[in-house]
Amino acid sequence: MDSYSIESIKKKNRMPARLDFLQSGTGLILGLFMWAHMFLVGSIILGKGSFNFVAKTMELAFLSDTGHGFPIAVFFAVLTVFTLFLIHALLGVRKFPISWKQHRIIRDQMQMMNHTDTNLWYIQVITGFVMFFAGSVHLYIMLTNPGSIDPYLSADRIVSGNMWPLYLILLICVELHGTIGLYRLCMKWGWFAGKDARKSRKTLKALKNKLTIFFMSLGVFALLVFIVIGINHRDKVGERYNKHEPAVEQGQAEEQVQAEEQVPVEEHVQTEEHVQADEEIPAEGHEPEEAQPADVTHQ
Ligand code: HEM
Repeated sequence: MDSYSIESIKKKNRMPARLDFLQSGTGLILGLFMWAHMFLVGSIILGKGSFNFVAKTMELAFLSDTGHGFPIAVFFAVLTVFTLFLIHALLGVRKFPISWKQHRIIRDQMQMMNHTDTNLWYIQVITGFVMFFAGSVHLYIMLTNPGSIDPYLSADRIVSGNMWPLYLILLICVELHGTIGLYRLCMKWGWFAGKDARKSRKTLKALKNKLTIFFMSLGVFALLVFIVIGINHRDKVGERYNKHEPAVEQGQAEEQVQAEEQVPVEEHVQTEEHVQADEEIPAEGHEPEEAQPADVTHQ
């Protein structure tokens, strides 16, 4: 009886609901941020100049007289995202199975129910766990090097800094986690539910799959472009991109300069050869004449 009265006067704890709300909010912001992020990083597909423009705009270069921008702006942007990322991850850890026994129970129930959305939740748990480490590494690097985002420096980081395996794993996880997360948010809060909930769930799931494929392909393609640039730039690691000399043209220009430098040298060599030849011809021409009488004299 006592315990009943204690329970009944105890105020309802709203904390779990608030934490859930905070997790949904941070997840929504991060999910939308990742779409923007993938487009910004994907600008490398359009060329080094496009990526450089994006990077410089993020550094607010248009506000500085020198055009160099303010890497501190990137620092604060990364700090904000990193904080949201950590809050979101720590709130997510609450829902992780914390023992092998709990994990087994979840797996058994999943097999028994065979429910797609429950399976999606499990994918989110696994990808979220991986992202906690891989995402933290990436964000820490960005936080401590806010001024080192440029087509060459980024490609150097990916190839010569051996970041590509981490980016590939992070990319797969983030694209699965992000789109599943946004889909589950729609389901949880009833967004885009329409009149026929069953139909809209099907539509949203199809959209989720398409978005995952789109952003994953965009990311893989961008990563491949970075890898090609990074391989070609291996002997100049740490050298910044110069927007006045785009790399392809720069390479061609270098060849042209070399070619132009070689022309006078070759001409010079040819001229010398001609002079030598001219000098030799009369000498050769003279010798027989001189030798003949000599020979004749000897005979
Ligand atoms: C404001 C915060 C962020 C900034 C400024 C940023 C910046 C960048 C940049 C410049 C790259 C190109 C590679 C490089 O330079 O190293 C990149 C790649 C990448 N970032 Fe971020 N990032 C941020 C947040 C995040 C977050 C929160 C995630 C996910 C947890 C993430 C996941 C990735 C992935 C997966 C790639 C590889 C992209 C690809 O495969 O094409 N980033 N990021």
